[in-house]
Amino acid sequence: MLVYVPPHPLIKHWVSVLRNEQTPCPIFRNAMAELGRLLLYEASRDWLPTVSGEIQSPMGVASVEFIDPREPVAVIPILRAGLALAEHASSILPAMKTYHLGLSRDEETLQPTVYLNKLPDKFPEGSRVFVVDPMLATGGTIVTAIEHVKKRGVTNQQIKVISAVAAPPALQKLSDKFPGLHVYTGIIDPTVNEKGFIIPGLGDAGDRSFG
Ligand code: PRP
Repeated sequence: MLVYVPPHPLIKHWVSVLRNEQTPCPIFRNAMAELGRLLLYEASRDWLPTVSGEIQSPMGVASVEFIDPREPVAVIPILRAGLALAEHASSILPAMKTYHLGLSRDEETLQPTVYLNKLPDKFPEGSRVFVVDPMLATGGTIVTAIEHVKKRGVTNQQIKVISAVAAPPALQKLSDKFPGLHVYTGIIDPTVNEKGFIIPGLGDAGDRSFG
């Protein structure tokens, strides 16, 4: 499994805004959306097929390359907090489709439950799939989400995970269960506490995004 923390000053900036407990809800949500845009930009580099040809510019004929709209690209925000991280996805992935997946973690057992599933019965052949969830803590949520995606005809190599903060328990589980997976994250934090929160993390990303 590849875990990539893009070394970009803007990524550090938006993670720092998210970490600050003084950041109010609308600014937190905007920071999450900007971080998502940058991470998706990095994750889509060399991964999006293009179609080339020639076009007439005002000054002559030019070779051009566009994102191929026939190639299926799926973005799966894990509700709720994934909605904020995926907010600007369509500016990076012009031909994408969104499939919502709602998971909620029990506060006592930390076990996730699926409460909304808008995944297709089967993803189109050759799909490239971005699973977007800001927090990878114990890993229960992201593992359950990817299991649901894989049941619909997608391999590990066709999936990239986009997260704001990732912790070792989640990364270990992902690496054990899904070799070949790629994870793009804003930062890796050292621990998860007994209540399932990443330390130092950024608190409850769903509550801080949506109040
Ligand atoms: C949070 C977070 C992740 C999950 C991570 O969601 O947004 O989805 O917990 O935890 P895990 O790695 O230990 O499974 P939560 O269940 O609080 O839902 P929310 O996004 O609606 O706030």
